[in-house]
Amino acid sequence: MTITDSDAAIPEPRRSLEVSQTGAASAIRAIYERRAIRTYDDRPISREDVELVLDAAIHAPSAVNCQPWAFVVIQEREALARYAKEGTQLLLDEPLAVEVVESGLPDMDRLRQMASGPDFELFHGAPALVVIYATSADGVPDCFLAAQNLMLASWTLGLGTCPIGLARPLFNRAEVKKELGVSPEWTCALPIAIGWPDAAAAPTSRRPAQVAWK
Ligand SMILES: Cc1cc2nc3c(=O)[nH]c(=O)nc-3n(C[C@H](O)[C@H](O)[C@H](O)COP(=O)(O)O)c2cc1C
Repeated sequence: MTITDSDAAIPEPRRSLEVSQTGAASAIRAIYERRAIRTYDDRPISREDVELVLDAAIHAPSAVNCQPWAFVVIQEREALARYAKEGTQLLLDEPLAVEVVESGLPDMDRLRQMASGPDFELFHGAPALVVIYATSADGVPDCFLAAQNLMLASWTLGLGTCPIGLARPLFNRAEVKKELGVSPEWTCALPIAIGWPDAAAAPTSRRPAQVAWK
């Protein structure tokens, strides 16, 4: 997968995001209503919808507009099941990769215990996974902005998403990058499960913003 500067273009929106299946037409509503979705129904996502949310992703801001991102869309059921299994095994077997340790997850022991249970599925049974790769050494923060755009646009369409930080070590493995046809130099920033929600997710809490005024 090689994207060069000659591929760059001033993009036209693909379709108005005002067309909403949830009624969450405004960005602010999507921000407040989006939840990490962990149960999906079996319906596949259309190519058009995947392209739409990827288009929203690439409208994220990036440092000096360098757009240091690339996306792999995995929809083959067999591949998803295999990666979910391999990613879980990696989580259980290997010393925690630095990105998992640094993710600040509160209780990795509890998480590993959960991952070893029979009902655990790393991608929550989603029909698709979008893996965002940073194509430059310092591109990961820009990829997170793209990830948020993708998740908010998905929500506006009625699609659910869940970031799967626990799968980053898997998608940073040399053999997996090779299989996906991505450069060995790229860093997996964030895999995101995506699909039609099976049930509404419970609201989640937020601590008040810590703010210093000067
Ligand atoms: C960088 C990052 C990594 C995450 N990794 C996982 C993950 O591996 N599995 C999972 O189920 N949720 C994951 N999440 C989702 C968070 O648990 C979720 O966003 C958080 O609990 C708040 O819930 P909300 O998004 O519904 O508000 C991740 C979120 C972020 C931002």
